Amino acid sequence: MTAAAVDIVRTVEELRSRVASWRSEALSVGLIPTMGALHAGHLSLVEAALKKYDRVIATLFVNPRQFDRPEDLAKYPRTEDDDATKLASANAHLLYAPNVDEIYPSGYSTNISVSGVSSGLCGGDRPGHFDGVATVCTKLFLQSGADGAFFGEKDFQQLRVVQQFVRDLNIPILIHPCPTVREDDGLALSSRNKHLSDEMRTRAPVLHQRLRAAAEQLLNGVPVDIVMKESKDFILKSGFDRVDYFELRDAENLELLKQNSLNSRLFVAAWLGKVRLIDNIAVIPSQLSC
Ligand code: PAF
Repeated sequence: MTAAAVDIVRTVEELRSRVASWRSEALSVGLIPTMGALHAGHLSLVEAALKKYDRVIATLFVNPRQFDRPEDLAKYPRTEDDDATKLASANAHLLYAPNVDEIYPSGYSTNISVSGVSSGLCGGDRPGHFDGVATVCTKLFLQSGADGAFFGEKDFQQLRVVQQFVRDLNIPILIHPCPTVREDDGLALSSRNKHLSDEMRTRAPVLHQRLRAAAEQLLNGVPVDIVMKESKDFILKSGFDRVDYFELRDAENLELLKQNSLNSRLFVAAWLGKVRLIDNIAVIPSQLSC
């Protein structure tokens, strides 16, 4: 017997009609934007949304505008049936899975670009990526008219970009940050993890281990430049092929920090073969015990 799947709508018109009928019953609406290939991290967002809102919509749209490399877009996993089943098991109410023409119809010509928090980190390494994220999220927020949207802290820069444009454009939606979900060995859940070979998978938790070790060094007063250099060297010696960045930044404006501060966060991006992994943690004592 096939497992039940969540209801799916594919057009803005159908989406708005569902939301309007919920609104007529005074029900509140939460949104989980995704590109599919759902894992426990996404389902934790559904769980968080169900605690705050009466109805929960997940979106599934592999957004071509946020891919800087065509090969990444081509190989991005497309698992809609499986995603719809997982969403039903997680008690989501609706899946909005538009096709590319619904989001970017012929003649589409608007771009949302956020300066400041979009530069550096993944913005430096992936040109145009955050314009793509900001543009599609703006559309999803306006199309759904949801009251709140949920984003994981694993993509911390994405979360800050979304918070920034929502505030700048006065979009009436509350952004809920949610903690990163990790495997038992600390590896942050990501749809990219399925591209890791067994051998790479054993090395991957080094990123989180090194973030925690670096946070401890900073809290013990080791200078930032030494911690950053030792961390990059350690990751490379642990079998990673390249480190794009290992940096200490302010968690609000994402500016680079030369000294540890009360609101600092460590960010890393590194490659195992062709798989680019990212992670980040806050530099606070409680972070070191989890
Ligand atoms: O984090 C993601 O999966 C995507 O960047 C998002 C937020 C769904 C926008 O396409």
